Amino acid sequence: MAPSVSEIAVETKDTLLDRVASLKIHAEAEKPAVDSKTGAADPGPSYPFYLPYWDKDERWPPLEVFEHTDPGLRADPSKPRLLTADVVRRDLTPYIGTELENVQLSQLSKEGLDEVALFVAERKLVVLRNQDFKDLSPERQIEIASHFGPIHRHPTSGNVKGYPEFHIVYRDASHNRFREYIGGDRANLTSWHSDVSYEKQPPGTTLFWILDQPPLGGDTIFSSQVEAYNRLSDAFKKRLEGLTAVHSAVAQAEYSRKRDGPVRREAIETEQPLVRVHPVTGEKALYVNQGFTRRIVGFKDEESEYLLKFLYDHISKGADFHVRANYAPGTLVLWDNRVTVHSATQDFSNASRRHAIRLTPQAELPIAATA
Ligand SMILES: [Fe+2]
Repeated sequence: MAPSVSEIAVETKDTLLDRVASLKIHAEAEKPAVDSKTGAADPGPSYPFYLPYWDKDERWPPLEVFEHTDPGLRADPSKPRLLTADVVRRDLTPYIGTELENVQLSQLSKEGLDEVALFVAERKLVVLRNQDFKDLSPERQIEIASHFGPIHRHPTSGNVKGYPEFHIVYRDASHNRFREYIGGDRANLTSWHSDVSYEKQPPGTTLFWILDQPPLGGDTIFSSQVEAYNRLSDAFKKRLEGLTAVHSAVAQAEYSRKRDGPVRREAIETEQPLVRVHPVTGEKALYVNQGFTRRIVGFKDEESEYLLKFLYDHISKGADFHVRANYAPGTLVLWDNRVTVHSATQDFSNASRRHAIRLTPQAELPIAATA
């Protein structure tokens, strides 16, 4: 079980809530927290241990390059430990997304987790229902996720005190940083990205689970970057392969600094291949995203803007290679951050609480596709 309020020796639920309020970076009018359906007083978050924590004075050294062997390479392709006779499999779309029932991630052996890595690489997004994962100890959660690679520690986002591996997604009636981060005057709040693609070794198999969810809305949309690539003409694919683009952490760091938040590692910019190859499946995928890609190396500004705009439009308009993950209590999703982009859907009431956790194992140095 995750630590309950009574088990947290040094911080009670009230002090945790106070801490979050004091860390709130933007002064926003406090609204009384009420249940959006019943109007009753808000009981508070179900898992206060995982409320976001920031120490704005925290500083970390740059990440170091490491050797990564993807666990999917070790997997039995028939996946006998994951796809047992009891498992109910439902593919959500032809190109991306599968839902599995009667799998308990926490019960899988190392070989079973290898099979998960392969299956997530193949299906891009896997939705697991009725997981006990949210009630494991934080150490056990980190241990399982670490099977897929060393856990990324985010330079600016809220984490858990003493557990910088956790990336906290939190919104309630009085905390809504997302809208401001992507701009307060947009007609829609879709924000396609792959997580921290500016890192030299961006994440691969990524875990995300829900603790509190709104009564309706708050899904995550995903797009297959493999199918986005496959839809292009051979001539266009050839033009893209061999190109690199700069992915930047600068805007994210500046945003955090402006709000008196932490910048734990200095912001970096990294050249990544425009088309990358998945180390396990061998599939080629577009590797650009609106969140962090800034320019194509060697192109004039206008050329770069023109091409990136085409690719972003292509990726975001491809509803025939998108999928939508929804959440119920106990849902955990895994996606392969190397071959997908995703966006939150900010379609739920401001009065609702949405609280979710991400553990983000890093993977290999991106492998460039060659023409
Ligand atoms: Fe994300």
